[in-house]
Amino acid sequence: MIDLHCHLLAGIDDGPATSAEAVALGEALVAAGVTRVVTTPHVGPNYPNDAERIHVAWLELVAALGRAHVPLEVLKGAELDLLYTQGLDAEELGRLALGPDGPLLVECPFSAVMPQFEQLVAGLHAMGHRVLLAHPERSPVFLREPELLRRLVAAGAMASLTGSSFAGRFGRTAQRYATWAVDEELAHDVSSDAHDTVKRPPVLAEALEQAGYGWTAAWLTREAPAAILAGTELPPRPTAPAAGGWARLRRARGGRAD
Ligand SMILES: [Fe+2]
Repeated sequence: MIDLHCHLLAGIDDGPATSAEAVALGEALVAAGVTRVVTTPHVGPNYPNDAERIHVAWLELVAALGRAHVPLEVLKGAELDLLYTQGLDAEELGRLALGPDGPLLVECPFSAVMPQFEQLVAGLHAMGHRVLLAHPERSPVFLREPELLRRLVAAGAMASLTGSSFAGRFGRTAQRYATWAVDEELAHDVSSDAHDTVKRPPVLAEALEQAGYGWTAAWLTREAPAAILAGTELPPRPTAPAAGGWARLRRARGGRAD
């Protein structure tokens, strides 16, 4: 699998505190089936990281994983606070994209309201960036107005959901929104957003399968993320199995946002 959202760098945000913890998280990613990960430390008012600092921490991580023989390819990226990005120059913003050819990963706000969110995403599009929205299913702004995601996707944005949301890690409402987004073809990726090996461990396809979405797990965790990273057109989506059965019943019971 390819993980487009993970806090893997040591000591620069709320991810691993030490290099040893970062290596342990790298091992957990490999054990979960991840072969390629983009490390996405926070860039925002609470963690004012910049591209240079991320680069240095990334070099250290790659060396530490190499010494520990962890077979994991690590690319650089960032999880951007959208308001904070307004103060960054164009070159710096470009260096914070996911890998050399990927989009900007923009955190969906945890605040109750953010009226300018849609307009600011449009501003990034106008600058020529593609935008991948991180965990809309956990954002009060999106939970209050589910159709916001549909408008943003229609405007060209993509959405990355958190694997453990499908397992209910962030509550029933986030779980319902996540399944609704997949049902409505508004999800383009499922990532771990892992921070450590205990409280926020990497969970990807397994959670999708358990939630009755095994039919699209490969697309959401391998095929679409590969295209997102490469900057190419996304492959065709698989269609949901038409037959009845438990998976369909589960979707019908839990698959609509409020
Ligand atoms: Fe994150």
